[in-house]
Amino acid sequence: MKDTLIIGNWKMNGTGATNTQLVQALVAEISDITGTTVGICPPFPYLAQVRGLIAGTTIRLGAQNLSDRAEGAFTGEVSATMLKDLGCCYVLVGHSERRSLYGETDALVADKFAAALEAGLTPVLCVGETGDERRAGVTHEVISRQLHAVVNKVGIANIAKGVIAYEPVWAIGTGETASPAQAQEVHQALRQLLATQDRSVADSVQLLYGGSVRADNAAELFAQPDIDGGLIGGASLNAATFASICRSA
Ligand code: PGA
Repeated sequence: MKDTLIIGNWKMNGTGATNTQLVQALVAEISDITGTTVGICPPFPYLAQVRGLIAGTTIRLGAQNLSDRAEGAFTGEVSATMLKDLGCCYVLVGHSERRSLYGETDALVADKFAAALEAGLTPVLCVGETGDERRAGVTHEVISRQLHAVVNKVGIANIAKGVIAYEPVWAIGTGETASPAQAQEVHQALRQLLATQDRSVADSVQLLYGGSVRADNAAELFAQPDIDGGLIGGASLNAATFASICRSA
C-alpha cells in the first residue's frame, strides 16, 4: 500500500506571526502520526521562515508555484532551483487558480512540471474540470487533456516522480465537496489513463483529492481505493482541523 500524502496549500494567506502560531500548533498536534507524509505550502516570502519552524520535524516544505525558466531576466519569477535551495520538496503545478486567474495553459503547466523535475523537486500536478464541464459531461476529456500535456512533455516514466491532485474546480473553496464516489470515479479514470501507457506508473503514482476537504469528510474520501491523500486549502489554515484531516488519512 502507498503511503498517504496530505499537503496543505495556504494560498495567499498568513503573516510572520500567524505562521509561527499555525506551524507550532501543527507540529504539536501531528507529532505522533505515522504512515502519512505531511507537507505544507506557504507563500514564497515565508518559505525560509517555515523551513526553520519545521526543522527537525517530519513535515515537508512545498511551494505553490514556480517558473518554467531556469534563471535570467524574468522579473518576479521564482525558479525551481531557488525552491530547492530553500528546502522545498514539493511544488504545486497547474493549480486551477493559476490556470483560470493567471492564464496558465496546459503547455506552460507541462514546462513547469519539467522544470520542477529538473531541479529534483516533486511536482504536484493539479487537474480538474469546472462545473460547466462536469455538467456538459466532459470531465474525463478535460483531465485527460491536462494529464497528457504533461505526459507528452516529460514521458510516462517521469510521471511517477510526481504526484497528481484531482481538484474539481467547482469544489475548490466552495464548501461543495465531490462525493467520495464522484472523486473515486475520476481517480480511477486517471489511473486507467496512466495504465494504458505504463501499468507500474499507474499503480505507484500518488493521487490526491482536493476541493473542500474538511475534518468531517476526509476519512470517507481517503478510504476510496484510488485516493492516496489530499490537497487541502482553507482547512490547512487551522492547525486542529488540518491535524484532524492528517489523522483521518
Ligand atoms: P480548498 O482548496 O480545500 O479550500 O477547497 C483546495 C485547493 O485549492 O488546493
